[in-house]
Amino acid sequence: MKLTMQLKQRSYDIILKAGCLKNLHQFTNTANRKVFVLTDSGVPAQYAQTVADQCPDARVYTIPQGEGSKSLKVYGEVLQAMLDFGMTRADLLVSVGGGVVGDLGGFCAASYMRGIDFVNCPTTVLSQVDSSIGGKTAIDLGETKNIVGAFWQPKVVLVDFDTLTTLPERQVANGLAEALKTGLIGDPKLFSLFECEDPRQNLEEIIYRSLKFKKKIVEQDEREGGMRKCLNFGHTIGHGIEAVKGIRGRRTTGLYHGECVALGMLPMIEDNALTKRVRAIYRTLGLPVRTGVSKEKVLHYMLHDKKAGNGTITVIKCPGLGCWRAETLPLTELPSLLGME
Ligand SMILES: NC(=O)c1ccc[n+]([C@@H]2O[C@H](COP(=O)([O-])OP(=O)(O)OC[C@H]3O[C@@H](n4cnc5c(N)ncnc54)[C@H](O)[C@@H]3O)[C@@H](O)[C@H]2O)c1
Repeated sequence: MKLTMQLKQRSYDIILKAGCLKNLHQFTNTANRKVFVLTDSGVPAQYAQTVADQCPDARVYTIPQGEGSKSLKVYGEVLQAMLDFGMTRADLLVSVGGGVVGDLGGFCAASYMRGIDFVNCPTTVLSQVDSSIGGKTAIDLGETKNIVGAFWQPKVVLVDFDTLTTLPERQVANGLAEALKTGLIGDPKLFSLFECEDPRQNLEEIIYRSLKFKKKIVEQDEREGGMRKCLNFGHTIGHGIEAVKGIRGRRTTGLYHGECVALGMLPMIEDNALTKRVRAIYRTLGLPVRTGVSKEKVLHYMLHDKKAGNGTITVIKCPGLGCWRAETLPLTELPSLLGME
């Protein structure tokens, strides 16, 4: 399967195929330039090696796994390693891993020598259904997520389903939460793929439909001036929960990004019957239905989030299956949004 992101001179193909990682050389020039392969310590090493084996002049660089690597420190270390490898503007960075490696690698590619070619090879469900396309690259500053970054589109994205065979179950469910988000706001057929005994059986179709929807949105609003905001459904409260209970830095227990988004979506669904169906899907997937954190703490983070400017906050709501609308609220309404009043 193939999708093409149509962005004029920044257009690119998204290849979806089991085993496609070993065909990278067919989709981009790996022969006559240096290739910096970025991966993390939790990604089975053979995936980055498969990429490196196709390049006569490659360097594999492994960062520690986890959100903590989306930091200024690791960003600087990667850039230094690229410089030490002697990379020029004609060379290539390939990310092999989940959203962390994709976001960091994309930002390194966007900023090294004012921008070099970037290829993304997502190996988690979350990155295959969502983060690998669209060109958003970023690192965090302390607790503030994705606050430093750039829009930098990849040259090609290789979605190799085979890489998911090594992914732990919980990570699979974590990624499926972002796909369910897409189904809820824009694709009832995608949503229906979750209402079965085991949605994991529909994984390839779920990934394909999720990317198809996101592609359509990004093509119309690459820089999030308007409708791309819909993809933030569940993220406003989700990021608040993630700040309090996310697995990052020294905090090694808690909730993953997709799990926080899943929890953040629930209060944004305005149709009670639909909320019930979503909760049932969470139970099937093993996603959390309760945060287990104090709403006061989540509220405190959200009120101090640098992105909540002008005393207002824009949230995406889902009035019914397959639809969404943006609502700008005064911050004083946040407590009721969190069900605190
Ligand atoms: N750029 C975007 O548009 C966008 C969208 C959504 C999320 N994100 C970002 O994505 C990040 C989360 O991504 P994620 O959920 O992929 O997390 P992740 O990159 O941390 O990967 C999760 C874990 O799985 C391991 N792993 C990766 N591939 C594996 C494989 N095939 N087999 C076994 N283990 C594997 C990793 O080492 C890591 O420990 C967050 O930082 C979030 O902000 C970005």
